[in-house]
Amino acid sequence: MAVQNQRKKKQSVPVVMFGVLALALIALGTAIWMLVRLGKSDPAAPGNMTPQVAEQTLSSSATEVTTTASTVSTLPADSTAADGSATVTTAVTTTSAAAAASAPATSVTAAPGTVTGISLTFYSTALHVGDKPVMPIVTMTPASAANKQEIWQSSNKAVATVDSLGSITPVGPGDCVVTVTSVSNPSVSAEVKVTVLGSTTQTPQTQPSSGTAPAGRSDIQVINGITYVQGILIANKTYGLPADYNPGLDPTAQAAFNEMAAAAAKDGLSLAICSGFRSYDFQNTLYNNYCNRDGKAAADRFSARPGHSEHQTGLAMDINYAGDSFNNTPEAKWIAENCWKYGFILRYPEGKEAITGYKYESWHVRYLGKDWAKTIYDSGLTLEEYLNIDSKYAE
Ligand code: DAL
Ligand code: ZN
Repeated sequence: MAVQNQRKKKQSVPVVMFGVLALALIALGTAIWMLVRLGKSDPAAPGNMTPQVAEQTLSSSATEVTTTASTVSTLPADSTAADGSATVTTAVTTTSAAAAASAPATSVTAAPGTVTGISLTFYSTALHVGDKPVMPIVTMTPASAANKQEIWQSSNKAVATVDSLGSITPVGPGDCVVTVTSVSNPSVSAEVKVTVLGSTTQTPQTQPSSGTAPAGRSDIQVINGITYVQGILIANKTYGLPADYNPGLDPTAQAAFNEMAAAAAKDGLSLAICSGFRSYDFQNTLYNNYCNRDGKAAADRFSARPGHSEHQTGLAMDINYAGDSFNNTPEAKWIAENCWKYGFILRYPEGKEAITGYKYESWHVRYLGKDWAKTIYDSGLTLEEYLNIDSKYAE
């Protein structure tokens, strides 16, 4: 018996250990099951953002950009030729998603393969009801981005609709904005401003707002007083802008500038916008001040009359210093060689005054989008030459 009892005691130890082990395994299994359940909950729920997505969402509203003051009180120190350096450069915070997407120095830590920029072949279009749809070609950067899916939206479907591929169809008269957003990075987007007119027989003007269109030019449209040649918004001595056209600096052009400045910084150069958007009234003051200082004939060689400045389009900017002393600086050379890569052209090249209407400006760039900028750069022509248009005041 004693021997038997001893045997029973010896057998009960492994039995207890087995029981404890089994309980531990059940507890472990339950914990794993609960973790799996948590991981499968609604990914769209706000509390369920991954740290990376949350960081991107937060930091996209804190990008430092430059803007220009809206008044002018003094003329530039440089007396040889300058057009806008009396403006002031200030640092502000923008909430522009497009600007943030291409900003040079933000805390955005996009995952490898995430889209960080979007460019389009055009950013504005004018259509008539009944016209065929138009579709901008989208380039998402970096090229290595894994998910380049797009979401297209129209701000007013009664004016124009857009399908999932970006095909824009005019519906009714008015203005709207069509936006394309990256699926992988919703803080990155680009916009097309769409103007729809009643019908092809209801074009409001057959002539540009000023000057005369060359006869038989079906590629010139004048919409609400704004001239487009092959879809490119033009402001020069021949083609003016309405006094109340006040778009501000285009956010896509600002984002492209940020991208360009970041690239220049990698080459050890610092680029800043010293004059961006200028209103009609601002240009009026600026131009009159130059006329008073230098006389009208001299002023007309380097300063646009009100309504004729490309700065009023919101698509032009002067970089660093708007004066002849900027010529031949490393920054000026870099801009001349590289700005096309970011969607800009040097608008008033050396030796082309008779064509563009203005003296050489090594600091003035115009945003056209990457495709057009490359096309114009590769052609070696000015915008006027490429589009076969004049730049001459009517009187
Ligand atoms: N300096 C350029 C021509 C302007 O005034 O717009
Ligand atoms: Zn300029």
